[in-house]
Amino acid sequence: MSRVKIIAGNWKLNRGTATEAAALISELAGALPTESSAEIVVCPPFTALLSLRDALSAAPQAIRLGAQDVFWKNSGAYTGQISAPMLVDLGVRYVIIGHSERRGRFGVPEPDFTPDILKQFGETDATVNLKAKAALGAGLIPILCIGETLAEREAGDTDSVVRTQVEGALSGISAEAVAGLIFAYEPVWAIGTGKVCEPDEADRVCGVVRETVGSLYGAATADAVRVQYGGSMKPDNAADLLARPNIDGGLVGGASLKAADFAAIVSAAQVRQESTQG
Ligand code: PGA
Repeated sequence: MSRVKIIAGNWKLNRGTATEAAALISELAGALPTESSAEIVVCPPFTALLSLRDALSAAPQAIRLGAQDVFWKNSGAYTGQISAPMLVDLGVRYVIIGHSERRGRFGVPEPDFTPDILKQFGETDATVNLKAKAALGAGLIPILCIGETLAEREAGDTDSVVRTQVEGALSGISAEAVAGLIFAYEPVWAIGTGKVCEPDEADRVCGVVRETVGSLYGAATADAVRVQYGGSMKPDNAADLLARPNIDGGLVGGASLKAADFAAIVSAAQVRQESTQG
């Protein structure tokens, strides 16, 4: 199966005012190719979603909107939470779930984050699963993030950590729904550090994600599910990563805040797609 590549920009806690977000989108609209075979997604902070919905409808490219998190309940006494139907109402189509930063696993150490403060970042495989179900129920496409820390990698636990996270995220979700969702393999030690995972190794672990889906749901679902790589993806390494058979796109942090860099990564995805179709 030829899977459509997907490049998503995770803006994190940046460009979150309407003015900042509009400025970045206007730069992006100027830098991105007008036609792209790859899906292009931007995930700004919640506060910029509404203004970007309108800005994106005016952009010459098909740039889709994603959110960075979602709560699993639709309403009730949950102060500060945002539900999946609320996101849909803002024109959101994708939602990042279980990012390592929300799990309290930071690529760059946070010296001020004491164990007590880290409780703020308490995402687990169980909450990822609840959020994935809520997102799917509202018609959103989850981007489920998984990946090992440096200590887990050095202990030889990469594959088992990834398998456990994939299985935990998917508990109780149907094969049909799984075929349409996206995983982002993001080794924690590569996020925001400038240390990219070697393309062969990134491809191998994305393959472990696919195999895990296959063992749970069968070959057709494994073939359909898309697996992005994330962690210091930049213009100079994107083409090599995106050329690998198991890597279906990128979840891009730092480089998504620079229009020229994000556009170059989208172009790298496009070249790859054209060459595989040829
Ligand atoms: P990075 O972040 O590209 O800045 O490493 C990726 C991510 O955290 O999604």
